[in-house]
Amino acid sequence: MLDALDQGRQGGGTRARVGRPPMFPVEAQGITVRSDGRLLLDDVSLALTHGPRTVVMGPNGAGKSLLLRVLHGLVAPDAGTVNFAGRAADAAVVRRQAMVFQKPTLLRRSARANIKYVLGGLDRAARTAAADSILAAARLSHVADSPARRLSGGEQQRLAIARALALDPDILLLDEPCANLDPASTLAVEEMIDSARDGGAKIVLVTHDIGQARRLADDVVFLSGGRLAEHTPADRFFAAPCSAAAADFLAGRIHIPGGHDRR
Ligand SMILES: Nc1ncnc2c1ncn2[C@@H]1O[C@H](COP(=O)(O)OP(=O)(O)OP(=O)(O)O)[C@@H](O)[C@H]1O
Ligand SMILES: [Mg+2]
Repeated sequence: MLDALDQGRQGGGTRARVGRPPMFPVEAQGITVRSDGRLLLDDVSLALTHGPRTVVMGPNGAGKSLLLRVLHGLVAPDAGTVNFAGRAADAAVVRRQAMVFQKPTLLRRSARANIKYVLGGLDRAARTAAADSILAAARLSHVADSPARRLSGGEQQRLAIARALALDPDILLLDEPCANLDPASTLAVEEMIDSARDGGAKIVLVTHDIGQARRLADDVVFLSGGRLAEHTPADRFFAAPCSAAAADFLAGRIHIPGGHDRR
């Protein structure tokens, strides 16, 4: 189902940035998601502006992936709204977002075909040339003809990001894009994220890697136990976080909501 949704969205092709309707700020208001009596997201409100790169942090199970899915319209919250420039998302707004999932979903085709699939509005030769230059930027030229699902974990992750970038999105949502990647692949991914941002995309990135967050974040959203613990400019967050949950996280202390802390 998610696969199908994801792939359906990828079919939008590239579009000229000129003439797109405004979609910022992105405002989440009172987002609440429940399942089996558990509050997975608890009254989360935040506003995301266009320029700054937003990094979402928090322990396992805090609700980071779920929040990204709500922002992307894949999960309808039980309460709350997400507005883009003051309006609920319509199909045009959804098409202008791309999300790279924690576990990438790639088509059962070659790496090059995965990229070509999302490149609309070009003839075949131009699509191949565009796909090859996108693969080169992702340092994947050597596996262009290999089946995407046989690539290594790091290569698959880079391909998923390259495919998202090929959509030329206004908002790029990335869920732990560098988990399990070696330093060289991490650097390649960070360069791709930089180039997306230079091209005008709003970056929303989930990471557990404090070093990466320091390198990339302009502002930090910190979730703990489904609640927004804080949303703070990055320099302030790393110097003196407002919330005890974030302070514990940054200090390497284990904080279990409702449980015993190990210090
Ligand atoms: N569709 C769903 N149905 C039911 N429960 C869900 C669903 N999606 C997520 N959850 C639950 O919501 C909680 C938050 O999950 P989420 O995947 O957002 O955590 P996360 O912060 O991304 O954690 P991690 O760092 O491990 O990726 C978890 O307890 C998870 O089991
Ligand atoms: Mg997650």
